[in-house]
Amino acid sequence: MPVLAVPHPLIRHKVGLLREEGSTKKFRELTGEIARLLVYEATADFPLEPATVTGWCGEIPVERIAGRKVTLVPILRAGLGMLDGALDMIPNAKVSVVGVARNHETLQPEPYVDRFVGHLDERTALILDPMLATGGSMIATVDMLKARGCRDIRALVLVAAPEGIAALEKAHPDVRCWTAAIDSHLNADGYILPGLGDAGDRIFGTR
Ligand code: URA
Repeated sequence: MPVLAVPHPLIRHKVGLLREEGSTKKFRELTGEIARLLVYEATADFPLEPATVTGWCGEIPVERIAGRKVTLVPILRAGLGMLDGALDMIPNAKVSVVGVARNHETLQPEPYVDRFVGHLDERTALILDPMLATGGSMIATVDMLKARGCRDIRALVLVAAPEGIAALEKAHPDVRCWTAAIDSHLNADGYILPGLGDAGDRIFGTR
């Protein structure tokens, strides 16, 4: 399953709401809610280990996630819209920021910033980017993470285009991607149809 459209009814319902034209506030809230649910899905295989806590009746056996360290990797700028939701679920995660701009003429990715945190060879990276369109930004980000030794790389997106899925699966077949929806195709300007429009603009209220 390199790219999985998460079938959870809450996610499908919220994507429908996200597609409606509406306020920046509503778009941000829904983006955060879906990001939480995607993190929930993408971490379902994290191993647990037994532990003990002191509770109201003494020592109680519990479970906790076994030594899994996470770095969240929002791709600027739209990926920031998913960051708070992801941090709600993994509050101790480190955050590595990547900036990959899409050249609107060539549609090619141009990395302009990378601020990676911690020992990436010990961490699971959860890349956050609302739109998997051509796949260029995602592939460039995975390239950067792999160059720094990261071996467990997962991607969370709101909407994926078949073109982006094919490109990501070809370039990085080992990277799993959870998406809230798989849409029809890209238009000539590289926008996903029906998609969400410009996710960055909708999150930042630029338009
Ligand atoms: N980026 C967006 O914000 N929207 C798209 O449809 C494609 C890329």
